[in-house]
Amino acid sequence: MTDLFAPFTLGKLELSNRLVMAPLTRNRAGAGEAPTELAAQYYGQRATAGLIISEGTQPSAVGQGYPHTPGLHTDAQVAGWTLVADAVHARGGRIVAQLMHSGRISHPAITGLQPVAPSAVTPAGEVYTEQGMKAFEQPRALATEELPGVIGEFVDAARRAVSAGLDGIELHAANGYLLQQFLSDSTNTRTDSYGGSPENRARFVIEVATAVGDAIGPQRVGIRISPAGTFNDIAETETEATYTALLDGLNPLGLLYLHVVEGPETDFHLALRKQWEGTFIFNTGFTGPSDLSTAQEAVDSGSTDLFCIGRGFLANPDLVERLRSGAELNEPDMETFYSGGAKGYTDYPALSA
Ligand SMILES: Cc1cc2nc3c(=O)[nH]c(=O)nc-3n(C[C@H](O)[C@H](O)[C@H](O)COP(=O)(O)O)c2cc1C
Repeated sequence: MTDLFAPFTLGKLELSNRLVMAPLTRNRAGAGEAPTELAAQYYGQRATAGLIISEGTQPSAVGQGYPHTPGLHTDAQVAGWTLVADAVHARGGRIVAQLMHSGRISHPAITGLQPVAPSAVTPAGEVYTEQGMKAFEQPRALATEELPGVIGEFVDAARRAVSAGLDGIELHAANGYLLQQFLSDSTNTRTDSYGGSPENRARFVIEVATAVGDAIGPQRVGIRISPAGTFNDIAETETEATYTALLDGLNPLGLLYLHVVEGPETDFHLALRKQWEGTFIFNTGFTGPSDLSTAQEAVDSGSTDLFCIGRGFLANPDLVERLRSGAELNEPDMETFYSGGAKGYTDYPALSA
């Protein structure tokens, strides 16, 4: 049996255990969509996680998908992330920023800009804005000549993450946002070299990962994927071929980790685990069990190196200690997931309190 609570070496990072805090959007950024002192407190409280993956963070203004999510494209945002990095490091933790470009999952009422996407395919459904729920609007298809600029936004944000003192970044290529929109044949109907086949649909994500790795070092770059995931009105028909092509392109880069989200209904992550040559992180998604026994079984069976937990860390600043000692867990309060200041954010009690 592998000890989940023993240290693990992830690239150049010494993690104190194998439990990873999942990226969790909390919509509490301050002026200029910069992380606040309160965010530093929230992340600092959770520094006993082996690794923290931050909430989704836009690399550019147009990449913002929800109100008050933080960015990494201005100096003020870097200053906010510096507070966060310092708070986590002061308590011996490790933290990477999840770079999340929302693509078509956005709205002019949030950004003042028309969303961009691989193709002009409007998502079904509505998005939350400060003026209430609004139907998604048709995104503008990115021209081939614009793609280097989008890659440049990811590179710039990754450099800013490092300058803020964060330990690296995670590319969000899951859950129906821009990078998965390139991977999926339902959202990518392009006829240039970025669409039309699994290899072509994987190309943009590989180019982003390559450029970001060249800029800050591949051992500072992880990537999250959700093969066949349907969140945000996305659908993939050539999942196996697409993700095989993706990993063929990513393996030679020597990235920090591959992070797979997959519910209990399917087990495609096992094939990806075999193909992936580096460290593997697994999260069971919204419908899967996310408890200690699932984590233990996943690591012991060899299906992952590290296990990622979301709502458990959201509601328990000392989740690692509680799992280690078998203590009861605080229940997450859904009402305060996406707003609420300190309530439901920094006021979940720790055992020692
Ligand atoms: C409040 C909330 C916010 C989330 N925000 C993000 C996000 O910003 N990026 C992301 O990749 N996943 C996000 N997720 C998904 C989680 O990372 C995770 O995959 C999910 O919660 C399932 O894990 P769990 O059962 O351990 O909570 C979010 C989930 C929740 C509950």
